[in-house]
Amino acid sequence: MSEAITSVLEENRSFEPPAGHQGYIPSLAAYEALKARFSDDFDGTWGDLAGQHLLWREPFTRVLNREKAPFFHWFEGGMLNVSENCLDRHVAAGLGKRTAIVWEGEAGQVRRISYTELLADVCRAANAMRELGIKAGDRVVIYMPMIPEAAVAMLACSRIGAIHSVVFGAFSSLALRDRIEDAGARLVITADGGSRRGAVYALKPNVDEALSEGCHTVRHVLLVRHGGNEVPTVPGRDIDWHQALNVQPAECEPLAVESEHPLFILYTSGSTGKPKGILHTTAGYLLWSRLTMCWSFDFNPAEDLFWCTADIGWITGHTYSVYGPLCCGGTTLMYEGVPTWPDAGRIWKICEDHAVSIFYTAPTAIRALIKAGDEWPAKYDLSSLRVLGTVGEPINPEAWMWYYRVIGKEKLPIVDTWWQTETGGHMIAPLPFATPTKPGSATLPLPGIDAAVVDEFGHTVIGDGGLLVLRQPWPSMLRGIWGDEKRYVDTYWRKFGSRYYFAGDGARIDEDGYFWIMGRVDDVLNVSGHRLGTMEIESALVSHHQVAEAAVVGRPDELKGEGICAFVVLKGEFTEGLAAALRAHVVSQIGAIARPDDIRFANSLPKTRSGKIMRRLLRDIAAGREITDDISTLEDQTVIEQLQQRV
Ligand code: PRX
Repeated sequence: MSEAITSVLEENRSFEPPAGHQGYIPSLAAYEALKARFSDDFDGTWGDLAGQHLLWREPFTRVLNREKAPFFHWFEGGMLNVSENCLDRHVAAGLGKRTAIVWEGEAGQVRRISYTELLADVCRAANAMRELGIKAGDRVVIYMPMIPEAAVAMLACSRIGAIHSVVFGAFSSLALRDRIEDAGARLVITADGGSRRGAVYALKPNVDEALSEGCHTVRHVLLVRHGGNEVPTVPGRDIDWHQALNVQPAECEPLAVESEHPLFILYTSGSTGKPKGILHTTAGYLLWSRLTMCWSFDFNPAEDLFWCTADIGWITGHTYSVYGPLCCGGTTLMYEGVPTWPDAGRIWKICEDHAVSIFYTAPTAIRALIKAGDEWPAKYDLSSLRVLGTVGEPINPEAWMWYYRVIGKEKLPIVDTWWQTETGGHMIAPLPFATPTKPGSATLPLPGIDAAVVDEFGHTVIGDGGLLVLRQPWPSMLRGIWGDEKRYVDTYWRKFGSRYYFAGDGARIDEDGYFWIMGRVDDVLNVSGHRLGTMEIESALVSHHQVAEAAVVGRPDELKGEGICAFVVLKGEFTEGLAAALRAHVVSQIGAIARPDDIRFANSLPKTRSGKIMRRLLRDIAAGREITDDISTLEDQTVIEQLQQRV
């Protein structure tokens, strides 16, 4: 068991929510009352919330249709448009001058975009896309740095009913190609390059490389000039974003679509080699983006400045950098660059300069900031902060306590949010001004969310570890895996006979009903809050001509949460520099986030009699732990010694 998990099991500190502020859900009693409303009338309560929080063109006639479970339909009969909910309605309410997006570039440049301006840009982009032949239901891949144009592109898709699929800018051209092909995209929106550590990195060449083979569905590439780097263009195919938008009118009628119209596909890793396109739809996703902004962050759109540090290439960036804050009519901050550039005070400088009030980041970032030293936050005025959030991996109590003490000055609520790409938004999280917190626990399920910990047979487990499940559908749940209905059913619903959604995480519920997430129980790694499949990295390794077989496991890493350890069997002799070559190969196949930390070579991999790789044994070896598996049946005992050697 990792040290982080052991310390989570021993954790018994508890902190009361800050007094003196009336939160959106103001007390535990109010939380219980809302939960009780859901128990009494699940559909009716969701229906009321959807009616209050969203702008409908046609009201829905049925809240939840379970007839085709696990394919659930929410808010049937309803018609609406996401960009209208995020933009037009705020402008119509007289908030056009309010800043929608504050953007800061790595070099310190700042752009402030009002709701009126954002609406005009989104309309122009939507018109430009229409002119390129993009229609409702068409897929558009967005491969961009963290710049406002990325949000404009997403919202413009939603305005005309196109389905976006954002691919994280650090994914390689091959990973990009796979996603473009799987989604059958008609258009790719990209930029020349972005900023990183004071330099410009090129993005567009990756698009050219991706499109050089296959990808026959792609007709055009819209190119945002941002990095200033020279990039080749393909006449007829590539179109300059600014030129295309400039000739378009600043009005575009939003297309009302059905509640279940697909909004986006976002690829994420599973336990097989091929990433899966998680499908989210319109009404339910938008409703939960907005509700969780209110409930988990106590977001006040008139006053707060909300900063979620996640890249828009991840679900956190979708829901909490773009859709959540904008659907509420508030201000969201986007930063393009490395959070520790030019020094470890950058994050805190941004908080001071823009008076950030709600700050949301990942444990891996917190651990890096701890390592940099307390003198960095001490240099800046952080008094504007009022809520601190975390997401993406289990937070070790030490990191939680640092966040609470050093950044929160023991006065701010720490909101540890458990959720996934598949859940669309927070599932388990404290209400910042109602729920007492415990370091390392995501605390309690949000109202309307029926989370539980069960054993292999689906029986509830209290006290001991078990499998985390959701026992009722929720509006922002994934609606499927793009093009693969069977995989959707098999991955999430097969285990408990279509009754419970199986999250793939292990968890424990303590005597107060608090949830302690213990990490993945499948072959999914969480490296610096980035989700990666072990099989994905294994297939990248075996695609190298010198590799016969590979097994990849995670091992505890103080900063990254998990590190990647690869065990490799070669086809021929070991050659000098092979480890570096294999690392580079994985980076070219997937992206820098998948680069193995540790590569070990052996004549064979340890397998059970039935031929299965002994992964627990490999995890022990990778972590340098004592071996607990019975290895007496292994044909070649020396393999263990070989695998224990670092290259
Ligand atoms: O293992 C859980 C972990 O991240 C996984 C989901 O990854 P992804 O789909 O990339 O979404 C990340 C952002 C929502 C989960 O299955 N995870 C996420 N949040 C937490 C967490 N583990 C522990 N505590 C959290 N707060």
